[in-house]
Amino acid sequence: MRHQTIHRDNVLRGKNIIIGISGGIAAYKTPQIVRLLKKSGAKVRVALTDGATRFVSELALATVSEERVYRSIFPPADTSGTDYTRHISLGEWADAFVIAPATANTLAKLSAGLCDDMLTALFLTLRPRKPVLIFPAMDGQMFLSASVQRNIATLTAQGCRVINPDSGELASGLCGVGRMPEPESIVASLQNALHSTAATSPLYGKSVVVTAGPTREKIDGVRFISNYSSGKMGFAIARAAAKRGAMVTLITGPVHLETPPEVTRLDVESALEMHDTALSCFKSCNVFIGAAAVSDYRPLDPSEGKMKKENPEIELTLVRNPDILAEFGLQKASGQLAVGFALETQTGLGNARKKLKAKNLDLIAFNFFDRKTSGFEVDTNILTLIDKEGVTTELPLLSKDAAAGQLLDCIEKLCVYTPGINPLKNV
Ligand code: PMT
Repeated sequence: MRHQTIHRDNVLRGKNIIIGISGGIAAYKTPQIVRLLKKSGAKVRVALTDGATRFVSELALATVSEERVYRSIFPPADTSGTDYTRHISLGEWADAFVIAPATANTLAKLSAGLCDDMLTALFLTLRPRKPVLIFPAMDGQMFLSASVQRNIATLTAQGCRVINPDSGELASGLCGVGRMPEPESIVASLQNALHSTAATSPLYGKSVVVTAGPTREKIDGVRFISNYSSGKMGFAIARAAAKRGAMVTLITGPVHLETPPEVTRLDVESALEMHDTALSCFKSCNVFIGAAAVSDYRPLDPSEGKMKKENPEIELTLVRNPDILAEFGLQKASGQLAVGFALETQTGLGNARKKLKAKNLDLIAFNFFDRKTSGFEVDTNILTLIDKEGVTTELPLLSKDAAAGQLLDCIEKLCVYTPGINPLKNV
């Protein structure tokens, strides 16, 4: 078993940030914002207005972000698949949106809900709990005008963080308020916003244990029984929980995935190893989420070396593996939540409900199985969430990251509304 621990002090590491740039002189400083964010381990994408391209080049931004940049809401002619709705998928992808500089014109469009380019469309598609930071920058008189102040008030009332510009020398040669803060200060504001957003999650500071991936059950020294699980769903849950400030332990079978930032990863191979590792986390965890596809059986007596091909037929005796999630569910104390998955075909909702009950779970995700879109290996999933009161939430086809976000939203509600669970105790 290999251990990998990652320190939890850099809130930007692994975050997805969109920088929206509108057409003011301060736009020339934005490649530096992108560079600082990238250095901190964030992924950055840029949406800029036509006006912004007069002050900063798309090539410079694409080069420093190492991503294509977005301007129009309309996709290019050679677009295919989900790229037609990229303003939605980018909005889903982002953890925060920074608009710097925000001109008077862009503030007016944002406050009115207009959407005629990628920047303004993204603003409308971001889910409400994601931080939006707006840095107005313009001439001092413009900034203090009644219209601009009214638009700022509207955006603030919507939950945006509008950061007042600095005072100093302006492009006109005049002195006054209106300068965009320096890139370092913009990055610091974003860090503060991300810290306080994570801190508002009921999962903040809680211990979340996630199982992921397949297990391998040895037949002999070179062969095993396993399944098609890639670990993508479990890793997406671990990543999303860490972003909400949880202390995440990810117990994973053999997969080819990078450890999500701020997550402690424990690699295991067999169901027995996963069981023993999980057992050591039972007492200290607040939420246990079983997303692994654990083999139900293992060969009774695996041979050490390679079995010889001597007989036309062989018999393999399989014995039951312990059910890790059921063990947790049936022994959990108050203040602990058990969450499971049930991969089933279309008719499997009833089976998922049975597993919810039999394993004493607080929530189960019925995972519809369809080779092309949902279940093992693919990047998308179709889940139906059923809580122990029977409340059922059908989710559409979503990316595994988005599905993980919805699952955690549901777990957060359980933390808050279930008597005896709020507040979760660090047991
Ligand atoms: O890894 P991916 O390729 O992204 O695919 C994701 C997934 C399809 C594997 C995942 O979303 C999923 O559905 N996992 C559960 C698979 C399943 O059908 O499990 P099950 O019905 O055998 O078990 C029900 C629950 O008990 C699961 O939460 C499972 O983790 C848990 N369990 C099962 C058996 C066992 N011995 N120990 C367990 O903890």
